[in-house]
Amino acid sequence: MEKRSPSTQEHSRLKWVWTNLKGRRAFYGLGIMGSITFNVLQLTIPFFVAKLIDTFISGPDAAYNLEHNRRLFFIYIAAMVGLTLVRTVIVYATGMIFEGNSQWFLYRIRNVLYDKVQRQDMNFYNTFRTGDLMTRMTGDLDAVRHMIAWVIKTIIESVALYTSTMIYFFFMDSLLASILLVISPLIFIVILKFRKDVGPKHALLREKLSGLNTNAQENISGNRVVKAFAREKYEIEKFDRGNTEYSETNKKTALIWLKYYPAIETFANMMPIILLVIGGFFIIDGRLTVGEFAAFSGLIWAIANPMRNLGSIMNEFQRFKAASAKIMEIYYSEPKIKDAPNALDLPDRFKGKVEFKDVSFKYEDGKLPVLEHISFTVEPGETLAIMGETGCGKTSLIHLIPRFYEVTGGQVLVDGHDVRELKLHQLRKNIGLATQDVLLYSDTIDGNIAYGDEQLPKNEVVKFARYSAASDFIAKMPEGYETIIGERGVGLSGGQKQRISLARALAIRPSILILDDTTSAVDMETEKEIQEGLRNLDFPCTKIIIAQRISTTKNADKIMVLQNGHIMEVGTHEELVKKHGYYHSLVTLQTGEEEFGKAGEA
Ligand code: GTP
Ligand code: MG
Repeated sequence: MEKRSPSTQEHSRLKWVWTNLKGRRAFYGLGIMGSITFNVLQLTIPFFVAKLIDTFISGPDAAYNLEHNRRLFFIYIAAMVGLTLVRTVIVYATGMIFEGNSQWFLYRIRNVLYDKVQRQDMNFYNTFRTGDLMTRMTGDLDAVRHMIAWVIKTIIESVALYTSTMIYFFFMDSLLASILLVISPLIFIVILKFRKDVGPKHALLREKLSGLNTNAQENISGNRVVKAFAREKYEIEKFDRGNTEYSETNKKTALIWLKYYPAIETFANMMPIILLVIGGFFIIDGRLTVGEFAAFSGLIWAIANPMRNLGSIMNEFQRFKAASAKIMEIYYSEPKIKDAPNALDLPDRFKGKVEFKDVSFKYEDGKLPVLEHISFTVEPGETLAIMGETGCGKTSLIHLIPRFYEVTGGQVLVDGHDVRELKLHQLRKNIGLATQDVLLYSDTIDGNIAYGDEQLPKNEVVKFARYSAASDFIAKMPEGYETIIGERGVGLSGGQKQRISLARALAIRPSILILDDTTSAVDMETEKEIQEGLRNLDFPCTKIIIAQRISTTKNADKIMVLQNGHIMEVGTHEELVKKHGYYHSLVTLQTGEEEFGKAGEA
């Protein structure tokens, strides 16, 4: 990432907030105006009190005015009451505006972030941890909301109050005002030092919270592993350690303020003392009226409090800084794999031809190539079986077809077009994929099968369940297709999950069906039923099936054996058996000599 100076970063952060307030800027501006008005109106009470004192109590004409100018007295009182009411209305309205706008902003950004996260590449999910992403969408967003609802409002209020009071002071007595003003820069120096100290702490706090969330998230979704290994105590202790660290960092952050607080308080408290001493001399000298002195002392808080506020403003600003950096990282992230500007528009159903031309592939974070010089063609309607020992690159290979990853060499073509020239949405809509690690949603079985096509009628859902040999066990479930399955398909067996995932892949009537070890957990009998179902699909479909069992692969039009990212053998069952290579040895292993004899003759 390019290095930028802190000030430009802050500038771009606030600019980002401003950009995203589009559509609400006028309304937000109204809130700011309201805040300023409210704070300027804070001067009115001391102003009228000064007038009242000088006109009716301590001025030279006080007695006369009290006798003959009663009307003015009531006007002053009425003005004070009236303006107080106006202030109440304004403070209520601005509160609503700031709160409303911040909630609106939150809603908008949350949607953008979710959208961004949804569209990311596989690499993104390999890089970011779920707990961290969740922290960005919750805690971090709240820090940004707080900035809009509270920090900006408080800054404006403080500046408005401080400035208007100072101006008023200068009008009353410029010398006294100047003496009071001298203290201000001292406070700024302290605050800037505080900022330097507290900034890194907020970044650290944010990381600790993210770590804590990640830890909790992983353990909640992995609770079965924790239980199986009886590691509850260990996990609880680990969480406790994280929690303690977080809480300690929180305390340390709060303590930093305590270090600076006495200095700030001293400066703030010097204000009334200076006023008392110098103001007192000025009254004796006749330079200042009693009413003016009352206005000064009635408003001295309006000078001191904004200075006191600077600490919490700075604190919250640093929190915003740490949080917004995390949010903006996602906000501005772009998937690397996206539609080419001149992508072909092919709205019709694909024919389903898949071709690899000298494909090589390496993971971005990996050192060695996972696939090298892979070339093969699968014609529409054909079945290709892919075999090979674990880790040889089968899953990586099929992930190149829906363009989950980009090839590092060669070309993957679908229907004769390089997948990089196709629109991702159209390409993926044509591919039905049942992944190796099955993920189902906490929804009904019906909802899970119809995931890719919400409009799918019930009888079609049942049909696809039949193709994948799932209809029998679904019928036996308490509420059939309406049975709600838990998070990640809790409540189903491994084989049951695989069959629902297969039905889900079929339900979009894909031109290309890709099964990654999808029948590994089902028994031979069920497997046979699934094979039968796949042969009798009522739509044309190219099938690419990764499997370890000969029974799954032997009827394929072509069997490809991978080893270490290379194609080792390719051919039909009969051809490969005759070759006496890896496939041959698999057949021996899986069917026994007797069966093999038969297979060899076939
Ligand atoms: P099985 O599913 O176990 O049968 O293996 P497979 O043939 O499907 O292997 P796969 O394609 O998943 O992995 C091939 C190689 O790529 C292995 O050496 C993995 O370690 C490596 N690999 C898989 N996924 C990633 C990844 O996300 N990043 C990196 N750097 N390497 C990966
Ligand atoms: Mg695999």
